[in-house]
Amino acid sequence: MQPGTVRVLGMVVLGAAGMLGVVQAYAATGSSKEDPWIERGRYVVMIGGCNDCHTPGFAEHGGKAKEADLLTGDSLGWRGPWGTTYPPNLRLYFQTITEKEWLKGAKKFMARPPMPFWAVNHMGKGDLRAVYRYVRSLGPSGHPAPEFVPPGQDPKTPYVQFPAPPK
Ligand code: HEC
Repeated sequence: MQPGTVRVLGMVVLGAAGMLGVVQAYAATGSSKEDPWIERGRYVVMIGGCNDCHTPGFAEHGGKAKEADLLTGDSLGWRGPWGTTYPPNLRLYFQTITEKEWLKGAKKFMARPPMPFWAVNHMGKGDLRAVYRYVRSLGPSGHPAPEFVPPGQDPKTPYVQFPAPPK
């Protein structure tokens, strides 16, 4: 056998192994039972930053939390000229509305700071549906977040103080 032939054979074998890898990876995805909407929702929620406020301790722990604890709301208040707001428990919230109501309402809902409601308003229908299905798939969990505290009243929980905007 020529030395060149060995090399060519080697490449054929490696090539075949590579193909096998592709086929196996494909088979693994194909056999996964997870709804693609749920997978997409997990992605949108993560890059949309929803956990940063709606998951307790998420930002403080460098974006790490058990999936079972995600989006359960927080009792850390956000205090500013608007009063003190608490990120609601979205695991409970999504139990209270239908997918249709969410798709319609999310396009125009508003909320007090620091909720970036405009980010949700800008989401396309597919992303909104994915968020809904993902959070629903996690199921209800946790307790409702504390009630909104109007301006001028002292919250009973720890809170982050926002200064008034510069003049
Ligand atoms: C910077 C913190 C922060 C981030 C990031 C954030 N939220 Fe919020 N969110 C809040 C707060 C605080 C409220 C409550 C506002 C109020 O009381 O008016 C809220 C309210 C909401 C509500 C209203 C629930 C109701 O009862 O009406 C929804 C829905 C919501 N957030 C979804 C999301 C989604 C989806 C994302 C990710 C794209 C997200 N939030 C990102 C802080 C945040």
